Amino acid sequence: MKIIYGADYNPEQWDKRIWIEDMKYMKAASVNMVNLNIFGWSILEPSEGKYDFSMLDELMELLHENDIDVDLATATAAQPAWLSKKYNDILPVDQQMNTIWYGSRQSYCPNSPNYQKRVKELVAQLVKRYKNHPSLKMWHINNEYSDHVSSCYCDNCAIEFRNWLKDRYTLQVLNERWGTAFWSQCYYDFDEIIPPRQTSADHNPGLVLDYKRFMSDSFLNLYKMEYKILKSHTPDIPVTTNFMGNDNKPLDYSKWAKTIDVISWDSYPDPMKDTSPMANSFTHDLMRSLKSKPFIMMEQAPNQVNWRSINPNKKPGEMEAYSMQCIAHGGFGVMFFQWRQSLKGAEKFHSGMIPHGGVHTRTFKEVCSLGEQLTQIKPIEYKADVAILMDYDCWWALEYEPGPSSKMKYMDRIREYYSYFYDQNIPVDIVFDDSNLCCYDYLIVPNLYMMKSPDKLQEYVQNGGQLVMGPFSGIVDESDTVFSDGYMSPLEDVFGLKVVGYNVLADLVSISSDLIGQNWQDEIDVDNAEILYVYESGYNTDQAAVTKHKYGKGTSYYIGTSFVNIKPVLDRIISVTSIDSPQNVEVILMENTYILINHNDEKKEVHLDNFIEPILLEAYEYRII
Ligand code: GLA
Ligand code: ZN
Repeated sequence: MKIIYGADYNPEQWDKRIWIEDMKYMKAASVNMVNLNIFGWSILEPSEGKYDFSMLDELMELLHENDIDVDLATATAAQPAWLSKKYNDILPVDQQMNTIWYGSRQSYCPNSPNYQKRVKELVAQLVKRYKNHPSLKMWHINNEYSDHVSSCYCDNCAIEFRNWLKDRYTLQVLNERWGTAFWSQCYYDFDEIIPPRQTSADHNPGLVLDYKRFMSDSFLNLYKMEYKILKSHTPDIPVTTNFMGNDNKPLDYSKWAKTIDVISWDSYPDPMKDTSPMANSFTHDLMRSLKSKPFIMMEQAPNQVNWRSINPNKKPGEMEAYSMQCIAHGGFGVMFFQWRQSLKGAEKFHSGMIPHGGVHTRTFKEVCSLGEQLTQIKPIEYKADVAILMDYDCWWALEYEPGPSSKMKYMDRIREYYSYFYDQNIPVDIVFDDSNLCCYDYLIVPNLYMMKSPDKLQEYVQNGGQLVMGPFSGIVDESDTVFSDGYMSPLEDVFGLKVVGYNVLADLVSISSDLIGQNWQDEIDVDNAEILYVYESGYNTDQAAVTKHKYGKGTSYYIGTSFVNIKPVLDRIISVTSIDSPQNVEVILMENTYILINHNDEKKEVHLDNFIEPILLEAYEYRII
């Protein structure tokens, strides 16, 4: 399998003289695939039902002649102005019921019948026209679903929300699950239910949670609508849609992944944060894990972006180090936004592989040298013995505002644990509620506020797994109702304890072995668990902070606080092979191949067992050994 290398290609912004140049320089850069037609709709369909494919035909031919594959986009992420103007159901509506107007991009309601109708027709036209084209190697549906507008509150969404609810609940069950007796919210007819629009005070959390599920499903249905049309004509052409990176919350990607052939995502690490290499590494692991298959980094910036408030350049070598990170985590495609930096439009100060400065720039030189090196590399097969559980429902429910502490942020919890493994170069997979857990030695659950499948966790430990669970877990069931038998009650036996309350820590708290806890403290009544750490200050002094319990063939650990430094705690619990390296120097060892990446802007030394001499890596250097 070769590594895919290329970019979003937007030649519609340029005259044809430039297209010819593009072909020449794509060859120089070893580009073998482009993402074409991402924002092409308004050119393809100048008025309703009248199509003009002449430009796209020409481009497909040109790319074919130049041996460059096409990941052909369906162009549905930004509808033409005439379409937004013509049908008043298309533009999305925010919580205050204000229209989100056209004039930018990605401004459509996912439940708009007219948007859906025009999408269906456009996609059918595209697939019929290009299904046998030799350049077509992949379909790229839409672009970054839910970006810019992740939720719509319009009347069409209200109707579809009611249908979504009717498929799941009777009115009686709905009232029960949402607890509508609270604040006089009982419903006597589905028509009374509206989206969580602007209200006087907090919404019903059950409704809010279901609306998030519904919105993720609404976008997913749109995606599936296109997928079905494409597959019915081109069953063998893989289909992707580009996911968004770090902390993207609106879509349950674990559910989406089931109808995606190749996972791809857009990587934009913040150059101002030294935690960015770790956060980016996490998203690569998440993307690989979604299908346990190689994935594509569909976009990254060749140099600077334009959409943060301050947009420094990537340092010399930094982009290449990030590209190699993708390969090291099981990626098989390195692509950019975008091929040529625009002269017009809102992204003209976003870097391109060919920047405004042309082909004699550092950026283009780096692009060419990376392209050349990727032709020498094969994708790796990534294996991990440790898994971290991630659950979108839990994320959505935990962060609904009227909770005990705004410091209980789901991704912070995940990264607290993930960084332990990242820092020690221990491979990690991300798993979900329905994943097969049997082959993992350790299952780390940083937070499980919403506990949907306790039986599965119980079985995992019973059969010999080591389960490590973080604080504020086992609080509610899948409808966000607190377990009436107590927090953690579904797994009381597995952990050998009861959690009888919690304390939000305003101050730091001392814990045995000179450790420090912060933000959170579960109040644990130990049954037959062993106590590993106790609090040594505050009014819960001498009570358990961390416990261990043997259950079946396995062991469970409960960590009831957030540690300022969790390393000594996990060192005591986890024993898997690790590799020492300086901060932000990744060492990935898969099947006798080491990939070393220095994400620092200064040189670092790595001492590996089996190597007599230390390995010296220059700033942002990577090495494959
Ligand atoms: C996103 C989009 C691209 C472009 C880049 C800029 O990833 O998919 O169209 O706007 O951001 O960083
Ligand atoms: Zn809507």
